[in-house]
Amino acid sequence: MSIRTRTPALTDPSAALRREPAAGTAHGLAHAKAILFGEHAVVYGSPALAVPLHGLGVQTDIRNSPGAETRIESQLFSGTAHSAPETMGPVVAGLQAALEATGGPSAEVELRIRSAIPHSRGLGSSAAVATSVARAVAALRGQVIDATALHTIVQKAETVAHGRPSGIDAWAVATPAPIRFQGGRATRIEVGRRLIFVLADSGHHGSTAEAVSGVRALHEAQPARINAAISRLAELTEGAVDEMRTGERDSIGARMLEAHSLLADIGVSTPALDALVDAATAAGACGAKLTGGGLGGCVLALADSDDQAQCLADSLRAAGAPRTWTTEVKAT
Ligand code: PMV
Repeated sequence: MSIRTRTPALTDPSAALRREPAAGTAHGLAHAKAILFGEHAVVYGSPALAVPLHGLGVQTDIRNSPGAETRIESQLFSGTAHSAPETMGPVVAGLQAALEATGGPSAEVELRIRSAIPHSRGLGSSAAVATSVARAVAALRGQVIDATALHTIVQKAETVAHGRPSGIDAWAVATPAPIRFQGGRATRIEVGRRLIFVLADSGHHGSTAEAVSGVRALHEAQPARINAAISRLAELTEGAVDEMRTGERDSIGARMLEAHSLLADIGVSTPALDALVDAATAAGACGAKLTGGGLGGCVLALADSDDQAQCLADSLRAAGAPRTWTTEVKAT
């Protein structure tokens, strides 16, 4: 999958990822993800489907710095790990878990993290940063961490970031193909026909932890209603997994629109996200929905051609999206 950004800003992914690490350093990479179906329902054991966003990435360079305090340099913070603010908690937790898993918890290192993934937009930024940190630590120590060990490390960082994450982000940012995720297990899914998506930023941060606890409160207050929504979201996901294989784009799009309505019913959409879904629909998208935790973040729209994707991007920006990205999921 490739991704084109129409916003040449501070988060230019190619600039971040082209940089070669200096001698004596190792590096680790990871990519963003978008949840196509099943966010929130996945927290209750339902399946979910996520796609990789390869062009939006993060790179961590690392080197040993014996005798000096561990330091982190990033777009959010630069200084010692010890003095890092709470927002860096997931990074520090991921680093610590990675050092422990690779046999030396007390080593002093210097980290340089460059991310093109906007944070708090439902694109898996925190999981991707933790994944790149863990891969960098393993590379520095000449070790290969298997997917399960990597997942365990990243989940520790994600727990600091989001409370009780389902685990979908940790798998999705480390797997180069679309995945079906359920109950802690991820499997790759086949793609019968290329799919082109336009991602539109609503311009508002979304808090996954807040969105998840809002749904939990509704679930406690009105279990029958929320369970019905979760069951339907699960059906939409299962059908979409099959349709990814057979390449039924219009049907996937219709499922996206229904999923968005259900997510709005369970309280995680916003007027800005609804307006972007409406704009995509009016511009002829096969379908559109919010992606990730919601309450801000991004909308994902499915186009039926490259030309239409361009037109969707223009319409979404005219409807208020400060930036859009076009991305494809290649046929396997
Ligand atoms: O907002 P994101 O990209 O972190 O996605 C969270 C997905 C949820 O289902 C809402 C939460 C979870 O833990 O799976």
